[in-house]
Amino acid sequence: MIVVPGSQSGLSSIFRALAGSGHPVLMESPTYWGAILAASHAGVDIIPVPSGAEGPDPAELARAFEESGARLFYAQPNYANPTGAQWSHQRGEQVLEVVRQNGAFLIEDDWAHDFGISTTAVPIAAREDSGHVIYLRSLTKSVSPAMRVGAVIARGPARDRILADRGAESMYVSGILQTAALDVITQPAWQTHLRGLRHQLQSRRDLLVTSLRQHAPQVHVAHLPKGGLNLWARLPDGTDLDRFIRECESAGVIIAPGTEWFPAEPAGPFIRLNYAGPNPGAFQDGAHILNRSLERISH
Ligand SMILES: Cc1ncc(COP(=O)(O)O)c(C=O)c1O
Repeated sequence: MIVVPGSQSGLSSIFRALAGSGHPVLMESPTYWGAILAASHAGVDIIPVPSGAEGPDPAELARAFEESGARLFYAQPNYANPTGAQWSHQRGEQVLEVVRQNGAFLIEDDWAHDFGISTTAVPIAAREDSGHVIYLRSLTKSVSPAMRVGAVIARGPARDRILADRGAESMYVSGILQTAALDVITQPAWQTHLRGLRHQLQSRRDLLVTSLRQHAPQVHVAHLPKGGLNLWARLPDGTDLDRFIRECESAGVIIAPGTEWFPAEPAGPFIRLNYAGPNPGAFQDGAHILNRSLERISH
């Protein structure tokens, strides 16, 4: 285990150490914009692999490995940011098999591990011991954004190369911060906190979905996430996403445009709505604003 100051810096190290400039890396599409950013800064050649509510199609993934010669596949098997998708056990096995056959690594970003609502997250890394999975997790979201402590779990030469990159980058994570992190997650209250999260997230997710259905029916949520923090919604075809975002912003609702989550051409006018914020009481008003903004830009 390599302790890192948040999984973002872990991702940067992995892309630099295991791919490097000009080399291909496969990524689910859509995927976390920060992973796209880290990979771009490392100069890697990002190859998108379409991924939906069930995860990527193993045959398509195999084809992408074959055509690109890539040795890395970055993915979020549990409650993906932005789609909320969770792979089934079987899908995980199939993807792992394709990764193994190509002598490659699955970079498993388990950022939402603690945010299961109707399911729990079982890491693929937990059922694989041949060294083909590099696992990433952090405390930023489950403890606090100020707790920049995360971990990369890797083996053998891959681990050595990531560790060397960490050494060059920042040596180590402050011992004070590591001690504070350990203290938080070994308190009995930590388990209570995690159980509380599940209920809080469930009621917020459901409230946001209901608010959208009632007040913004044109904002279409095709997939109810079983965990995570976000709804991935599609707007009517032809929506001018930039204008829509500006309209919402001027009415007080800040929205993430879906374009940021696509490594290549976006598959449609998507938005990501986060339901984890501190004021779920505002969801109904927020949904009204989305609706009004859509009406305004269509005239
Ligand atoms: C999917 C995913 N991976 C990694 C990160 C980075 O997390 P950290 O705060 O641990 O650097 C985020 C943050 O939003 C994320 O959404």
